[in-house]
Amino acid sequence: MFPVDLATANKALKPSRSTSLALIALSTLAVFYISLWRELPAGAQPPVGAEPPQTNSPLAVEPVSGNQLNRIAATTAQTPINQSATYVGKQVCRECHAENHRLHAAHGHAHTFRAADDPEVVEKFSGRTYTTPEGYGTYTYESGKDGLLAKIPAKFGDQPFQLQYAIGSGHHGMTLLSLVPDPKEGTVGIEHRASWYRNGDQLGATPGQLHTQPETLSELFGQKHVGEVMRKCVDCHVTTGTIENQGIVNLTPNVNCEKCHGPGSVHVQQARSMNPPPPFSVGKQDWNAEAEIQLCGDCHRMPAAISQTELREYPKPLTRFQPIGLLRSECYLESEGQLKCTTCHDPHTTITAIELKVYVDKCIECHHSEATASELVTEPITTTTSPAKPHTVCPVSATTNCIECHMPSTTIDDYGTEFHDHWIRIHPEP
Ligand code: HEC
Ligand code: HEC
Ligand code: HEC
Ligand code: HEC
Ligand code: HEC
Ligand code: HEC
Ligand code: HEC
Repeated sequence: MFPVDLATANKALKPSRSTSLALIALSTLAVFYISLWRELPAGAQPPVGAEPPQTNSPLAVEPVSGNQLNRIAATTAQTPINQSATYVGKQVCRECHAENHRLHAAHGHAHTFRAADDPEVVEKFSGRTYTTPEGYGTYTYESGKDGLLAKIPAKFGDQPFQLQYAIGSGHHGMTLLSLVPDPKEGTVGIEHRASWYRNGDQLGATPGQLHTQPETLSELFGQKHVGEVMRKCVDCHVTTGTIENQGIVNLTPNVNCEKCHGPGSVHVQQARSMNPPPPFSVGKQDWNAEAEIQLCGDCHRMPAAISQTELREYPKPLTRFQPIGLLRSECYLESEGQLKCTTCHDPHTTITAIELKVYVDKCIECHHSEATASELVTEPITTTTSPAKPHTVCPVSATTNCIECHMPSTTIDDYGTEFHDHWIRIHPEP
């Protein structure tokens, strides 16, 4: 038996009489599982960071006769290409789209999910301590052959809790997630209570956690997520992966090419046998502003994911969800389907590589007078349907600093995490 002082744990957390009974019962289970983790063989879970097989063999195309070509073309005309397509991994895309691959590699999308024992994660936690203001305890972190571990020495001595996955590229911050067994749910996610923040290179409280009475020891380390909430937490940060037992099978971490474009095997096969290949995924003809905002909004959040009250009050933290703001901007509402996320963002290029001036040029493409039209520096937003007429020009600053005044950056927490308000509008004087 290991030295868990439940009396101390209970006292510190002051549970009600009935929850403390539950705490004791479930703690016994949790304790057992904590020790179980330690015994898991190193190879029990698919390593994070591994791409699906990169060999070309499953895709290698046999010499194609004219007939076969026709058959492939006929099939594609009738059935959605993606129906039988499988995932090939971004290294395969790289072969023909080297530039997109290079750009994407520097994007937050390409680094948003890894194993917690990745050296870049370990260096942010190991050797540090964090005390939760809510009384769950003081965590210490260390890493070794069992990966990244958290402990609460004052309560549980040397008994470790294993931290499994790190979510977030570190552009803003990083949060740790562990999948643990649960007698009722099978597997539950434990989102660790401390997160790393880039600003000040510090550990701080994980945002949005409910501070409920813990029913298991695991919950001293993090908030429990069950079912759909747990699955979506992983899904928004990976390309493929299914939670099974206490791991993720078929894991392709990060938001890679095929998360947005769909599984690529058929496209690749066709690209190898036909020149040019038939249009694929985003190349489809009915791709419009709404379809694209929906794609980005699946993760960056659409209004359907937000409560009515928040939508009405538009509190500051809502700026985190860019589609919410954009969809209520006059620029979107009044521009007849011309404004979408890729008007301003190349989906493959990280914003850290882009100067604000580039966005200003986008604003001016619409907000210019006839007089300034000839001075436009960038390609017109669309060559097929340009704005029917030039739009209103700013009476305050017609050519510079639009973002500061009309899409100001807002700080949404105590750790200096900033987002830009995508509700483009006239703000009252600060
Ligand atoms: C599968 C979910 C998902 C989809 C779909 C998605 N994103 Fe993201 N996006 C993320 C996550 C997760 C991050 C945070 C990355 C990190 O950890 O820093 C992110 C970060 C970003 C960033 C900031 C990071 C950077 O390096 O610039 C931009 C800009 C962005 N996304 C734009 C888009 C656009 C535009 C689309 C649609 C074309 C889109 N995203 C679709 C999940 C998604
Ligand atoms: C609906 C999709 C979605 C779900 C569900 C989701 N995230 Fe994210 N997450 C995102 C997007 C999009 C971003 C990028 C935010 C940005 O930079 O605009 C992000 C960013 C992050 C970041 C980077 C730091 C930051 O604040 O930008 C962390 C850490 C993170 N998520 C952790 C989690 C954890 C842990 C869960 C589950 C408990 C979770 N996320 C659930 C979509 C999601
Ligand atoms: C976050 C979603 C997202 C990810 C991840 C993503 N793309 Fe794209 N991609 C798009 C969107 C949206 C467009 C359409 C852009 C437009 O209309 O300007 C696009 C366009 C393209 C195009 C055609 C236009 C061009 O830029 O050449 C290619 C090729 C492409 N993507 C390849 C890739 C590859 C390869 C990867 C991975 C290395 C990748 N994409 C990752 C969303 C994404
Ligand atoms: C064997 C070469 C090859 C490979 C591998 C390949 N592509 Fe392509 N792809 C092409 C060619 C050729 C085109 C058409 C010309 C162009 O747009 O560059 C194309 C076009 C595209 C487009 C533009 C839109 C469209 O429908 O035409 C996207 C998006 C795209 N590829 C994504 C991907 C993704 C994602 C992968 C990896 C899963 C991938 N490609 C792998 C050759 C390839
Ligand atoms: C695709 C075209 C388009 C782009 C790009 C665009 N806008 Fe607009 N914007 C409009 C339209 C249309 C309106 C409605 C008034 C009008 O017709 O000029 C508008 C309205 C506005 C308004 C007035 C909003 C209000 O509530 O009164 C502001 C401020 C504004 N835009 C700023 C910007 C800034 C800053 C950018 C760049 C970050 C930008 N716009 C990019 C089309 C666009
Ligand atoms: C009119 C131009 C414009 C449009 C349209 C636009 N953005 Fe942005 N976005 C910006 C600017 C400007 C920034 C700040 C860039 C910087 O800090 O370097 C930004 C930043 C971001 C970031 C980084 C976090 C933040 O909020 O600062 C994400 C993620 C993002 N945009 C996603 C989206 C998504 C998703 C869409 C479509 C729903 C979208 N954007 C549409 C101009 C735009
Ligand atoms: C110093 C802050 C500031 C900067 C910089 C700025 N604006 Fe404005 N803008 C304002 C204010 C304030 C108003 C409202 C003026 C009024 O109603 O008299 C406004 C109004 C507007 C309007 C609505 C005009 C109308 O007649 O309804 C548009 C469109 C606009 N700005 C676009 C832009 C664009 C595009 C840029 C960058 C080229 C820009 N603004 C830069 C502060 C600014």
